[in-house]
Amino acid sequence: MRTASIALTCYDRDVYEPSDDTFLLVDALLKASGSWHAQQRKLCLEVGCGSGFVSCSLALILSQLHVSHHLIALDISHAAISATKSTLNAHKVSTADLIQGDFQHILADTSTFDIVIFNPPYVPTPDEELERTDIARAWAGGWNGRAVIDKFLPLVPKILSEVGELLLVVVSENDPPGILKALHAMDRSLHGGVMMTRRADEELLSILHVQRR
Ligand SMILES: C[S@@+](CC[C@H](N)C(=O)[O-])C[C@H]1O[C@@H](n2cnc3c(N)ncnc32)[C@H](O)[C@@H]1O
Repeated sequence: MRTASIALTCYDRDVYEPSDDTFLLVDALLKASGSWHAQQRKLCLEVGCGSGFVSCSLALILSQLHVSHHLIALDISHAAISATKSTLNAHKVSTADLIQGDFQHILADTSTFDIVIFNPPYVPTPDEELERTDIARAWAGGWNGRAVIDKFLPLVPKILSEVGELLLVVVSENDPPGILKALHAMDRSLHGGVMMTRRADEELLSILHVQRR
């Protein structure tokens, strides 16, 4: 299955460079795609699209499966939105709309999505790092790495459609079982588990896969 090519992916020093977490999320999309069928139309959302590598891969996977789809990719960073635009153009992907802004505002009154993906800023950092408005916003997660994740979790029951699935990147310090428990407590129909795990240097990365049941 063809996914985005690094050679055609645009990013500069203001944009998160595709890394192990990015590639793990694309591998998780390939795994999840085993249950996607051509007759289903998929409305998709990537929160924090960065370079656009993951959004572009998702669109390419869906196209190859002949799944009709539309993708919304959003990021708080202007530079990331402009990089994603270039990455999508370079791959001739035209099924996406891009929105610049904070997901907390954009997703407040939104419609629901069938596939939601987020590789959030998950790195445990001093809380002061959360005040930065530069590239640190791509990784800074506060003392347990959960500052941004915890703002996103309450939105999940609102934005996941009846057949929706969420793929969320986390590290062990984020307390993955605690995140799954919190989502289930917010909405009893949400069930999830660890879909994939990979060690990358000092990080133990996991993909949480959450669906309604
Ligand atoms: C770890 S990077 C992931 C980038 C890309 N998805 C990837 O996997 O390579 C996290 C991204 O989330 C964006 N971000 C951080 N806080 C955000 C917020 N409140 N609203 C929207 N995007 C945010 C950052 O600008 C950054 O591009």
